[in-house]
Amino acid sequence: MSNLTAIEVPDIGDFDTVEVIEILVKVGDAVKAEQSLITVESDKASMEIPTAIAGVVKAIAVKVGDKIKQGSVMLSIEATAQSSAAEPAAAAASSSAAASSNSAPTSSVQSSSAAAASGQSASIQGSVIASIASTSTNSAAASAATHGALSVAVTASAVPLAGKLELPISTAGLPHASPSVRKFARELGVDLAFVKGTGIKERIVQEDIQNFVKQALAGGAGTLASGSGASLGGGIDLLPWPKVDFTKFGEITSKPLSRIKKISGANLHRNWVMIPHVTNNDEANITELEALRVTLNKENEKAGIKVTMLAFVIKAVVAALKKFPEFNASLDGDNLILKQYFHIGFAADTPSGLVVPVIRDADKKGILQLAAESSELAKKARDGKLAPAEMQGGCMSISSLGGIGGTHFTPIINAPELAILGVSKSYMKPVWDGKQFVPQMTLPLSLSYDHRVIDGASGARFNAYLGSLLADFRRIAL
Ligand code: COA
Repeated sequence: MSNLTAIEVPDIGDFDTVEVIEILVKVGDAVKAEQSLITVESDKASMEIPTAIAGVVKAIAVKVGDKIKQGSVMLSIEATAQSSAAEPAAAAASSSAAASSNSAPTSSVQSSSAAAASGQSASIQGSVIASIASTSTNSAAASAATHGALSVAVTASAVPLAGKLELPISTAGLPHASPSVRKFARELGVDLAFVKGTGIKERIVQEDIQNFVKQALAGGAGTLASGSGASLGGGIDLLPWPKVDFTKFGEITSKPLSRIKKISGANLHRNWVMIPHVTNNDEANITELEALRVTLNKENEKAGIKVTMLAFVIKAVVAALKKFPEFNASLDGDNLILKQYFHIGFAADTPSGLVVPVIRDADKKGILQLAAESSELAKKARDGKLAPAEMQGGCMSISSLGGIGGTHFTPIINAPELAILGVSKSYMKPVWDGKQFVPQMTLPLSLSYDHRVIDGASGARFNAYLGSLLADFRRIAL
């Protein structure tokens, strides 16, 4: 016996009508309970309307562009026998599944749920369009960490040409996509900010993501990882990465990049091309601080704690972040997320590559504790024993090459942070005091900051303030 059910538009909240922008099924399709049927869009949100029952689509009563309202019949489904019997349980289970899938990073939210004409509960997976764009930076970071090669492909569209940095395609507008398409993108590690939508109003459809992945893969992970610019359409076509037969010039061996290098390389590449970096170089007079450091080390020799300049720099960075809160922030679309906590990352050189452990709540720790903790984390990093949680949540990072050498350098910002401090090797500098040259122990400081948020003057003030704290550490207590 035929069991045809008309599927109506459920409660759509505050909207009188919504526009059909995507029909996700066709006549003859077998659908499962809670499978999305159509996507509708108001001026504020896009929503997918699922079916509460499993069955076969028999007729579709709407087309793309139709304006529909609560109670409008969308399509009819012939329910499968088991589906009708097991329906309430299935609907309840799938509602919770929808809620949990919405907790993923793209900020999908359970918009509303309503009773469909059949009497079964149906939920709408909704997403506020504005939040799709605002999460793009974070999702790029997440995807870069887990899908390094693909993310490099992604950033290739933002490579500078003739001194001009062209923004990736979709950052100029908001990437519109339905929750299921965003879920699909998440599963593949694709950041929608870089996908060009071919649907209505440049909406991103599943096919766009498939094409994007195909293009990225066609570039070849190896080629991409070595810094070539793959053409992703709408971006800049760069010359292909030079292919050279090195054996023509002499004997060679080939060694694959370590996993850490591949992941950090993809992150560094993205950060370098996407963040307009400016580096402010300054110097701090650490003559007194160096004397204090030597004394502390003598006093704590037996306890086995070695204080390096890093611990003082961490403490000073925290104080500077307190004075300049815009540095303790991250960009989230057009919003600045200001942090009330002070977790400081520091780059650690390990045999497999660069990692950035994070010291949590550095504002609540003293110099000896910071020294002990940084040395413990650095050891863990070198032994490859850092837990993922120990590398997350940083507010600002420090890259200290002071133990190695160099005068100044340009550290690359660790997105989504806004600044990074590079510390080079301290040296004795002759400084004229008006009568004579006096020796001054000097620490070079290189502050790279994200110029989208931080002005040149603020960058210079931050670095100068940092220098003044290191020159007279008592100021930290003020
Ligand atoms: N100027 C002069 N000497 C310095 C110094 C500075 N700015 N910073 C450290 N030193 C000295 C230390 O006092 C120590 O001296 P000692 O051996 O006489 O006691 C020596 O250099 C080695 O210090 P190190 O073991 O490196 O400790 P640290 O606390 O300074 O640094 C790490 C710890 C983990 C940050 C560091 O070992 C490291 O890995 N740095 C590399 C970071 C990197 O690769 N950055 C590049 C990213 S772009």
